[in-house]
Amino acid sequence: MSSRRNGLSRGHRLLIDGALPAMSNAPKERSPRMTQSLSTDQHQTDARLGMEAEHEVQLGLILALEQSLQRGRGRGEISDVLGRLVEYTNVHFMSEQLLMRLHAYPDIGPHELEHDHLIEQIRRIEAGFIASDSELTAIEIGMLKRLVADHIRTHDQAFTRYLSDPA
Ligand SMILES: [Fe+2]
Ligand SMILES: [Fe+2]
Repeated sequence: MSSRRNGLSRGHRLLIDGALPAMSNAPKERSPRMTQSLSTDQHQTDARLGMEAEHEVQLGLILALEQSLQRGRGRGEISDVLGRLVEYTNVHFMSEQLLMRLHAYPDIGPHELEHDHLIEQIRRIEAGFIASDSELTAIEIGMLKRLVADHIRTHDQAFTRYLSDPA
């Protein structure tokens, strides 16, 4: 097994590799069809692993938010973690949407719609926190965790199942 880059950079690297199959340095003795099939399988596996790694980061940021609140951290730290969650979620959603297009995923429409809905809700919580003097509540963080976890368990898992077996 060749050495692997860490999950985060690999997820993004894959998009580039997947988009440029003609530039691959595959061994000449393999038939083009076999090379393409192996390469496609590897891309699908790597795409799945990349998504999983990104979900760990996304959920990790929500956990960090929860811990900041429990430890009574200041508004500055909470605002910083919230900002990173919004930014990372946005990049992750774009990366996932690009993958869905690369793999011609038929259910991309409802999945993208839910991404729009989710990012809007996360941004609303962030804007509410920044605009007011009120603290972020455990209820809001619990809601964030549930929304993201539900999305991963439903829409994202349906997409990873499709990557494993597109037929
Ligand atoms: Fe998703
Ligand atoms: Fe996701």
